Amino acid sequence: MRKRLLCIAPDDAHAAALTTGPLHDWDTCCVANLGDAARALRAEGYPVGLLLRARSLLRSADLDGFLCHHRDTQWIGVFRPHDIEHAACRDLVVEHLLDYHTEPVDPRRLAYTLGHAHGWALLRRPAPSTDDSGLLVGRADAMVRLRAHVARVARVDAPVLVWGESGSGKELTAQSIHAQSARARAPFVPVNCGAIAPNLIQSELFGYERGAFTGAARARAGLIESADGGTLFVDEIADLPMDLQANLLRFLQEKTICRLGSTRCIRVDVRVIAASHVQLQRAVDAGTFREDLYYRLAVLPVTVPALRERREDVVTLAEHFFGLYGDERSPRLTGFSSRAVAALLDHDWPGNVRELINRVRRALVMADGRLVTPQDLGLETPLVMTAALDDVRARTERLALRECLQRSGQNVSRAARDLGVSRTTMYRLLTKHGMHP
Ligand SMILES: Nc1ncnc2c1ncn2[C@@H]1O[C@H](COP(=O)(O)OP(=O)(O)OP(=O)(O)O)[C@@H](O)[C@H]1O
Ligand SMILES: [Mg+2]
Repeated sequence: MRKRLLCIAPDDAHAAALTTGPLHDWDTCCVANLGDAARALRAEGYPVGLLLRARSLLRSADLDGFLCHHRDTQWIGVFRPHDIEHAACRDLVVEHLLDYHTEPVDPRRLAYTLGHAHGWALLRRPAPSTDDSGLLVGRADAMVRLRAHVARVARVDAPVLVWGESGSGKELTAQSIHAQSARARAPFVPVNCGAIAPNLIQSELFGYERGAFTGAARARAGLIESADGGTLFVDEIADLPMDLQANLLRFLQEKTICRLGSTRCIRVDVRVIAASHVQLQRAVDAGTFREDLYYRLAVLPVTVPALRERREDVVTLAEHFFGLYGDERSPRLTGFSSRAVAALLDHDWPGNVRELINRVRRALVMADGRLVTPQDLGLETPLVMTAALDDVRARTERLALRECLQRSGQNVSRAARDLGVSRTTMYRLLTKHGMHP
């Protein structure tokens, strides 16, 4: 495979001198400005980038925003001898560059540095995934429906509103939509409106020009701009202050943004996926969320089911995380005890998948024996002596049914055999407990 290099050089002659000769074994694309560079990166994706005369680029454009946006590329800078003494150049090196050279450039050394950057880029590249829907683990009907929904909305470009309880997998769902969409190679940029101070959200989202406010020493691209070509995931959108709801709506309608302190509109191509753990319709009724924005976002609603609505996936997920966090466990620990499985199935999971992850990780650390116990999971339910005998019996029946169905892969006949009851009794019990295999 030939190595590919993107060279950004304001001066052609300079670029030509460097990129022939020692770099003959690279496929090099030379561009003169950041706009062309962004287009080239979007179309092809280059593992390594070379910034020639980096200081003049720094003067003429928002190099900082550009490099933030293209973090997956490994950047090498070339400076004139005294440039590196300037604070802005030093910041550039520290924040964004893997290495730098000063002119006159030693071509052999430069080739070596670029080769090193190329190796580094390959190491950092995420392993290719052939089936991105595989991100969402689970075979429950509710998950099968969710995956089908994800695949459908991934094909179009309208905004999506993901609703689900806390920890149910909203962000993972948004990532799956992005990964299966035509935008997959461009960035997925998450922003959590609940986690940013309200007075900072505007500048985080829309960016600012130099001098827009005290302390704005340099212009900076906002998160919307940095998602250009890709997807912006606006988490906890109900926490977005009213004035910013209006700005976001304008962006959705006009596809342009205006940085703070600027009157110039910039065209940005971004798909918005919003998420909320509160029913936005209620926020609209309460007057804290703009109705027009709600309707704009709710074109494609996606609901992530709570974990208790897909109990048959609990054990599969627990085993998935047991493997995923395998480094954190002692090699002696091989799996879950049947009592642990029963406890997993019986728990109501108010914190959903996130709670499950936390409990499994806790168990990996706490377990002494070969198998995880309910205590390791923090799920030991003390026997309530005052509970009526019928309650205890019903609860035990439910547990046994769930566990056997889980183990038999929802095969009713096999589960009935394991429980030592007839198929008819099995169906009667399932009906009694409202469980539909
Ligand atoms: N179906 C699933 N398969 C595998 N991992 C999952 C699944 N659902 C959720 N997760 C994992 O559970 C964790 C919580 O999911 P995520 O962050 O997407 O939830 P959320 O709804 O955005 O949560 P919060 O409301 O806390 O922000 C993540 O680590 C995610 O990778
Ligand atoms: Mg989230």
